[in-house]
Amino acid sequence: MSVSFHSFEHGADHARELASALDLELTPIDVHIFPDGESLVRAPSGGKTAIIYCPLDRPNEKLVNLLLAADALQRGGARRLVLVAPYLCYMRQDKAFRAGEAISQKAIAQFLSLAFDRVVTVDAHLHRVNSISEVFPDIEAENLLAADAIARYVAKKGCGPETVVVGPDVESAQWVARIAGRLGAVSFTATKSRSGDRDVEIVFPAELHISGRDVLLADDIVSSGGTMIAAISALRERGAASIRVAVTHALFDDDVLVRMRSAGASEVWSSTAVPHATNAISISGELAEALRDELNEQS
Ligand code: R5P
Repeated sequence: MSVSFHSFEHGADHARELASALDLELTPIDVHIFPDGESLVRAPSGGKTAIIYCPLDRPNEKLVNLLLAADALQRGGARRLVLVAPYLCYMRQDKAFRAGEAISQKAIAQFLSLAFDRVVTVDAHLHRVNSISEVFPDIEAENLLAADAIARYVAKKGCGPETVVVGPDVESAQWVARIAGRLGAVSFTATKSRSGDRDVEIVFPAELHISGRDVLLADDIVSSGGTMIAAISALRERGAASIRVAVTHALFDDDVLVRMRSAGASEVWSSTAVPHATNAISISGELAEALRDELNEQS
């Protein structure tokens, strides 16, 4: 068997947990930043198949380092490169909303496809496309779901069939329905309109009766927090007894956590897809299951 497992410093703890679930050792990728800002990346030679774990939050510098790491591993003898990016950046800009804008989703997918044979991610934000294979037509790609891991975690924390599982926009329906299904609970989604990065209006359907009920508010991404804060405030106005938040990708700063709490969230839990202070929900089981075939193919 010749499979090696690598990660940068960012996310190394989660990478180690995943490597150990696959019975592999984690080999760190070293990055030296020159005074002028360019990177020198060193990845010791590994297996014929090299897996790189790299959560792509705050991605611009990471993307360049990833390309350089892939080059180093290929030069060291790797013939198959697998990227595990539990958070896959730039998926939300999936069309040119105004003339002259880049379609970031396509551009970044093409960039990653130059270096990798397979991409594994979690809850990629796919809105106007049906599957991750449409985003990566030239390489293997899988989009795993965090919903089952979230449901297992929140169930341990006391969410059950009586909890109302709520999503802040129509796109979240896929995730909240799955979490609710696992809990035996009902789910609803709101309608969202956004007039700026942080300017969001959330309207819940009239038939959503949540006065005195415990609510689990779930979404794929919290970034500026505008969506969640508006949703928490709307739920509070409707008389929810408690509001707990579960998110796959925690991209937000500390002040957003404070604002979510003051808006009325009693708990904010995130998955380990992005290293963050709110991490509570491990997704290494889902990732290990998806990656196990790399070990079988090489044995
Ligand atoms: C977009 O539709 C996503 O599902 C999230 O709702 C969105 O990215 C959250 O962004 P923010 O925290 O900036 O409102």
